[in-house]
Amino acid sequence: MSDPVTTDSLELQDQLHLSDAVVSAQPTEKGPASDLVLEVKNLSVDYGWGENAVRAVNAVSLDVHRSQILGIAGESGSGKSTLVYGLTRLLRAPGVIAGGDVKLNLGKDTEGNQISIDILKASESELRKVRWSQVSIVLQSALSALNPVLRISKEFEEILKSHRSDMKKHERRARAVELLGMVGLEEDRLDRFPHELSGGQRQRIMIALALALDPQLVIMDEPTTALDVVTQREIINELADLRARFGFAMIFITHDLSLLVELADEICVMYAGVIVERAPADALYSAPRHPYTLGLLNSAPPLHGERVELEGIPGSPPDLADMPTGCSFHARCPYKMERCVTEVPPLLASDSTGRVVACWLHSGDLGVTVPEELGRTVSITPASKIRAATNSKEAS
Ligand SMILES: Nc1ncnc2c1ncn2[C@@H]1O[C@H](COP(=O)(O)OP(=O)(O)OP(=O)(O)O)[C@@H](O)[C@H]1O
Ligand code: SF4
Ligand SMILES: [Mg+2]
Repeated sequence: MSDPVTTDSLELQDQLHLSDAVVSAQPTEKGPASDLVLEVKNLSVDYGWGENAVRAVNAVSLDVHRSQILGIAGESGSGKSTLVYGLTRLLRAPGVIAGGDVKLNLGKDTEGNQISIDILKASESELRKVRWSQVSIVLQSALSALNPVLRISKEFEEILKSHRSDMKKHERRARAVELLGMVGLEEDRLDRFPHELSGGQRQRIMIALALALDPQLVIMDEPTTALDVVTQREIINELADLRARFGFAMIFITHDLSLLVELADEICVMYAGVIVERAPADALYSAPRHPYTLGLLNSAPPLHGERVELEGIPGSPPDLADMPTGCSFHARCPYKMERCVTEVPPLLASDSTGRVVACWLHSGDLGVTVPEELGRTVSITPASKIRAATNSKEAS
């Protein structure tokens, strides 16, 4: 049960104009739980109602820690965008939240109590206060998200004006210039219209807008998919640098698992609306446990080494309106067993890396032999060396 809201936490609550109903202040826990920014428990999202409803996200739980980059990967239609629309309450009809809890931790009051907001219970006006300032999101359609008739400066003006009413005009301009600099753009871009900028520049502006109010959590839904590979790479490196400098947490969504391996600390692999494997990026890359993760890795060019023929995953994801029984991947899985067709595999802890995986091969049942390719030893990959190099460059 929540502790009563304290006087100090009321000050923070007051700044954000949040009601008692959605805010709690709890004594800070010790250990990793104390730096959680986002806690999602059993979130389910449907499209449609009653008999016609299809479940696009099914009882997904995840945590995001301060400064962590959590990657979410999966084929088209696996529910990645629906998950973040649901947890930020940006869903549009016929999307409906069917259940779950989403807690955003706003920081600590002077007594060290953690102040949290219950996102699924907050009113629309309370959510507006928290969006941009505490959590910001760059949507999949971001390249067309800038208003075509507004100069870029106006976009920054509007966000800063509505959330930082104490800022003067010249201060807002200075902040906009600073933000553009952070994403490698010159001041003159502020006076342009969106059509006068390249796709990469527009995407950088969306990222700068997302960072405008120093949110503690930034959500990026396929922010680089529409860009060429070189620009994509530049933006990924900039995001890693910005995270190292400012310490915000990030959820980064993409269907490109190899890209995530380089950027993310931890990766969730989604299939048909559920997380089938979650593991530190190194562990997932060097030693995948779920056959679908292995399939995704085999579909992407390797990060280093010789060129190899890509295998791909046979078949296509299931129809949400006609989900198979048992493991939803069984029709495409080369390791399918009898049990897989009738029983849904639970998400279970798998090894000492903190990994969880939903596959009967790893349930510890006697008589099941784990294939060599799904039982490899975890090793430190070039991906973690790249991140370590980035971090030490920042530190020096
Ligand atoms: N407005 C909608 N009405 C009905 N079904 C929808 C709607 N939007 C998404 N869906 C369904 O929900 C499922 C998840 O879609 P979602 O867009 O979340 O997937 P995704 O993983 O983000 O895919 P992509 O990689 O293509 O962006 C899909 O089966 C999709 O068809
Ligand atoms: S539970 Fe069975 S069908 Fe599903 S991924 Fe594991 S082995 Fe394949
Ligand atoms: Mg999507």
